Amino acid sequence: MAETVRVLIEEDEVAKRIEELGKKISKDYAGKQVHLICVLKGGVFFMCELAKRISIPVSMDFMSVSSYGDGTSSSGVVKIAKDLDETLEGKDVLVVEDIIDSGRTLYYLLDILAKRHPSSMRLCTLLDKPERRVRDVKVDYVGFEIPDEFVVGYGLDYAQKYRNLPYIGVVEGVE
Ligand code: IMP
Ligand code: MG
Repeated sequence: MAETVRVLIEEDEVAKRIEELGKKISKDYAGKQVHLICVLKGGVFFMCELAKRISIPVSMDFMSVSSYGDGTSSSGVVKIAKDLDETLEGKDVLVVEDIIDSGRTLYYLLDILAKRHPSSMRLCTLLDKPERRVRDVKVDYVGFEIPDEFVVGYGLDYAQKYRNLPYIGVVEGVE
């Protein structure tokens, strides 16, 4: 069977949900500036769309982590491949992720970031697979809860492919 992508969440549905999240975040952080932290590369599409839907002052920074593991699951040993440019001291930090699966990556990452003394730190993810959770991570904003399927699109990849799809899909026809 050839490799194909089945649509799980349509483009307009994703856009609508991001708009709702943006409104909620703007309300929750009213009177403040929110410092968005993008976990590259997967989080970048979501963070850009989300930032455009936030109506309070926003600043952004980017980091890249690699967690040792095979292609589709993480080991939880997180290595910072590219660190943030700015300090988190005194900032209201919102970590923006594409997906939380086992929770291992975020568990370690949040621990590292908390030591940098932000005023507050919350977590926002486009997708959440709660069934897969191994590490307990508190998620403050969730776009969609999804079943235990390997998804692509909107920043998420399968072997570096499909990040550019404007919708969330499931790859079919792979072993
Ligand atoms: P965790 O440490 O198991 O929570 O894994 C988090 C990372 O694994 C995510 O940031 C993604 O990069 C990757 N990942 C987990 N599930 C999927 C998926 O369904 N599609 C694509 N990447 C995924
Ligand atoms: Mg990621």
